[in-house]
Amino acid sequence: MTFATEDNITDIALERWRTAHDPRLRELMTAAVQHLHDFAREVNFTESEWLAATEFLTATGQISDAKRQEFILLSDVLGLSMLTVMMNARTSAGATPNSVLGPFHIDASPVIDRNAALPGDLPGEALYVCGTVRDLDGTPIAGALLDMWQADEDGTYETQIPDSEARLRGLQRTDAQGRFAFWTIAPKGYSIPMDGPVGTLVRQTRISHYRPAHVHFLLSAEGYKPVTTQLFRAGAEYIDTDVVFGARPELVVPFVARPAATMVDDRVIAQPHLRVDYDFVLEKADALAIALTPA
Ligand code: BEZ
Ligand code: FE
Repeated sequence: MTFATEDNITDIALERWRTAHDPRLRELMTAAVQHLHDFAREVNFTESEWLAATEFLTATGQISDAKRQEFILLSDVLGLSMLTVMMNARTSAGATPNSVLGPFHIDASPVIDRNAALPGDLPGEALYVCGTVRDLDGTPIAGALLDMWQADEDGTYETQIPDSEARLRGLQRTDAQGRFAFWTIAPKGYSIPMDGPVGTLVRQTRISHYRPAHVHFLLSAEGYKPVTTQLFRAGAEYIDTDVVFGARPELVVPFVARPAATMVDDRVIAQPHLRVDYDFVLEKADALAIALTPA
């Protein structure tokens, strides 16, 4: 029988966690134990710091519910969410890269006809978003589904407003030429929720707690890898300090100012507006993934 000492406790803990039945759980838990023990030794972890950490994690759980997920926010500001996205959702050169989903997506948004507006009728600069969804070889993808959502001028999402009607979110399928187009208002940059333990932690640093202005998209099409992404306004504040590391150069697009009386499709638009043209590029799902996808 071996009693634990400061010197051998890591080896004993590793030996115990190596008994995990599932090989992947074994790998995850032994690596976690090794890194946690190394961390504690490296920083000379004190008992009061250990207690503060447990209190922080308790508060993080207590403030979380179906609409608010403070643990995900913690992962976001640590860069862990985006690292996990980048490692797992790698795309080939030329394909639209992925970004974080964020906490504000709502399923089953209203369908938005081509050239119609996202619902809400909210104040803001008029923005026309259009483009195509294409294959890596440039072929337009007809019937691709775009699911988009964004914050309003104050940086507020629908899920943050109790009992709101559908607001600044919608679904649209690309037409036979792979085209999509909708009207909305230009989103503004906004702060992540700062009234919880993550905010308290971030305030003890010089980290900017803002995200740059962006519109979220989920893209899917039969036979292609789905993409979770965002388009960012070129030149927007916080573009190079995004608190959740979600901005990527390929996703930064100009919001081009157009004067009154310019054409959109066959219509003259009376008011000045902004316009984003963007071609999303999807890559084919591998044959095995297609075979395993339920019909
Ligand atoms: C968002 O873009 O909606 C978001 C992402 C991560 C944390 C907070 C907000
Ligand atoms: Fe967002």
